[in-house]
Amino acid sequence: MPNIMIKLGDESAESYIKALNKVDPTLNILEWPNYGDPDEIDVAMVWKLPHGELSKLPNLKLVISMAAGVDHVLSDPGYPKDVPLARVTDPHMARSMAHWFIMNILRLHRETNYYDSLRIKKIWAPERAFDTDSICVGIMGLGYLGGYLAKMLVNIGLQVQGWSRTPKNLIGIRSFTGEDGLVEMLKTTNYLACLLPNTSATKGILNMGLFEKMPKGSFLLNAGRGNQLVEEDLSMALDNGQIKGAALDVFIDEPMPESHPFWDDQRIIITPHHAAEVFIPSAANAFVENIKRVRLGQSPKGLVDLNVGY
Ligand code: NAP
Ligand code: GLV
Repeated sequence: MPNIMIKLGDESAESYIKALNKVDPTLNILEWPNYGDPDEIDVAMVWKLPHGELSKLPNLKLVISMAAGVDHVLSDPGYPKDVPLARVTDPHMARSMAHWFIMNILRLHRETNYYDSLRIKKIWAPERAFDTDSICVGIMGLGYLGGYLAKMLVNIGLQVQGWSRTPKNLIGIRSFTGEDGLVEMLKTTNYLACLLPNTSATKGILNMGLFEKMPKGSFLLNAGRGNQLVEEDLSMALDNGQIKGAALDVFIDEPMPESHPFWDDQRIIITPHHAAEVFIPSAANAFVENIKRVRLGQSPKGLVDLNVGY
């Protein structure tokens, strides 16, 4: 049987190899760069593999992105275009991502930073009721993760609408497409949730021009990719009150440098790109299924359209 090569950023792949072998002990999985004979590798499982490495594998039948996003793979100019690329579509990840957005929409709405600051001073100040009916979440990207999030938000009683490349028919969720559709959605969106993939069409999409199309005092949440946000524009929009607060999980430079102004900006909730990780006990079955499918000559699940880039 051919071998599988695995590489997981800076992390050791040991626990992943164990989990995959628990599902199928016959799989021979070797960690990059000690993967032996390149001719023997038919599947590469990767997260942040250095560019140029995939093109060294002449008998590759499948590349598995060990992430939902595939930008880390498709930014490699040496990506072998005839090899199918599959990505993670895992219910555990979808749930985890939805939790990140729900937690932060509610943190922003309920002003938890402010109430935490009062608590330090032992001030009891119930003040007023929160207007839950005023929340309208607009999701940019109604795909696997965004679609799941939309349904969860409807289930906690929020108004939800979404924008995608192709129209969607989701119960209780207004669907928008195209540039005009985005403008239309933004008019009534006061919590903007970005779950777009990183492509040339989405780079810098979260900018001042877009913020100005939302009602003044809106909120921004981004867990898509860092370069979708023009970071200086967010700082300006927070200063002029167009945006009231934000929650960010992804940044242009990761790890975010110590000198980055976002660190000291209490109006921004920051998490270190872990809104939704691959949870290997849950994802291992799907990975193994895809390896089997491709070895049987079938198409993998979660296939990426290399022409659109996600
Ligand atoms: P997906 O299923 O491919 O969904 C992408 C959505 O974006 C689809 O609805 C797609 O429209 C829409 N879209 C793409 N390009 C567009 C454009 N130019 N205009 C309008 N809509 C566009 O991807 P997913 O699994 O939901 O994941 C989304 C992204 O989340 C990933 O690519 C990754 O960057 C990010 N992510 C982050 C974390 C984290 O921890 N921060 C974890 C996982 C994923 P169609 O439906 O019409 O194709
Ligand atoms: C994480 O960022 C992912 O794309 O899965």
